[in-house]
Amino acid sequence: MNIAVIGTGYVGLVAGTCFAESGNDVICVDVDEQKIDILKTGVPTIYEPGLRDLLERNIEEGRLRFTTDLDSAVRASLVIFIAVGTPEGEDGSADLTHVLGVARNIARCTDDYKVIVTKSTVPVGTGDRVRQEIAAVSDTEVDVVSNPEFLKEGAAVDDFMKPDRVVIGTESDRAREIMVELYSPFVRTGNPIITMGLRSAEMTKYAANALLATKISFMNEIANLCELLGVDVNEVRVGIGSDHRIGTQFLFPGVGFGGSCFPKDLRALLKMGHEAGRPLQVVEASERVNNAQKEILYEKIRDYFGGKLSGLKIAVWGLAFKPRTDDMREASSVTIIDKLLDDGARVVAYDPEAMERARSRFGDRIQYAANAYVALEKADALAVVTEWNEFRRPNFAKMRELLSRPIIFDGRNIYTPAEIRKHGFTYVSIGAPIVEG
Ligand SMILES: NC(=O)c1ccc[n+]([C@@H]2O[C@H](COP(=O)([O-])OP(=O)(O)OC[C@H]3O[C@@H](n4cnc5c(N)ncnc54)[C@H](O)[C@@H]3O)[C@@H](O)[C@H]2O)c1
Repeated sequence: MNIAVIGTGYVGLVAGTCFAESGNDVICVDVDEQKIDILKTGVPTIYEPGLRDLLERNIEEGRLRFTTDLDSAVRASLVIFIAVGTPEGEDGSADLTHVLGVARNIARCTDDYKVIVTKSTVPVGTGDRVRQEIAAVSDTEVDVVSNPEFLKEGAAVDDFMKPDRVVIGTESDRAREIMVELYSPFVRTGNPIITMGLRSAEMTKYAANALLATKISFMNEIANLCELLGVDVNEVRVGIGSDHRIGTQFLFPGVGFGGSCFPKDLRALLKMGHEAGRPLQVVEASERVNNAQKEILYEKIRDYFGGKLSGLKIAVWGLAFKPRTDDMREASSVTIIDKLLDDGARVVAYDPEAMERARSRFGDRIQYAANAYVALEKADALAVVTEWNEFRRPNFAKMRELLSRPIIFDGRNIYTPAEIRKHGFTYVSIGAPIVEG
């Protein structure tokens, strides 16, 4: 099938590459010329495990091309995915400037039947607006489909190749058949392609993200209470997660959620609720709890040092909003580091993938370590902010030698008190009693 994907960010680049991998002819389009020039050479512009190999192979085999020329991509394609950003607008709603702009441009060069698919996360009713934008410019027959994306950054290729489910929202039988055919190679193990109305599909994406975010905020609240009551939340987590109705995922307490999706999608959903005269109180609470939780590791560090952080050197392990990505959008690391700097602390940071992005965010306000151990040299404490695998089994003896004071603030509960005690660290985690060194 001939496919165009407009927007080559985390979603568009992964989707385009994976569609090519399953045998389609794919043209990816972006307005960012520099990005397109890099992608043409087979070099991914984001870090995602497995992406580089797929990109190289599919370019080499001629199934995957990159261009800034939207017209030719649209003319050559039957299915056109819109995967541009939907950033937060000033009032919290999703900014649809890019999505609707692309829809108008597609309409200008549409000469025969097309399936136009919104893959970007868009508020309920956007598909109808896309249809209107197109109808205002062109009378060629098109069908509009909502196909929200559920991939996780850090496992995006795997998630796309083997999705738990594919959601296709449309009122058109013709478009539905084309979409089902396109996705059938990805669900050969029997995971469902769920077809529904267009507006239902748009809402499904927000409801999924809001529920997952709420699970995280709920567990963080329980963790904070556990701490005050002398309970270890890690035990409680295992105790409740074994109930199939609850499940084990998204129950890990920590420093709150960040990233390019949960925070902005929650705010867009809240906005939808307000506009419809039905404010979403649970979602509101999830967001409020999360905003507070993003500061919690900083507060623990500040309190431990009696409010005097000036001149102290704090090593930070992990900057990306989660492991296996270089994405730092709305990352808790940013909140924590800004707070530490405001209090006069010096920060030396290390992340396996996000160092470049950190440099553009913090410039020379922090120091950047060449590896995790270099960050610890003469530091007064270590703060673990992202749970990268390489931080999970470190050389504790070496860490003790490097740190001026053996204190670990673990924002992701990746260590166990027993191993910490063995090495004589003081250990402050989330939702569990402090282990004194
Ligand atoms: N990142 C995720 O994990 C994820 C997961 C599911 C859904 N989503 C949603 O998918 C959408 C895209 O997210 P992302 O993280 O890939 O965004 P991104 O910011 O990484 O990429 C967006 C891309 O679109 C390009 N673009 C903007 N305007 C354009 C135009 N007019 N024509 C062509 N290209 C244009 C930008 O240059 C950029 O490369 C958003 O709606 C997001 O909410 C993201």
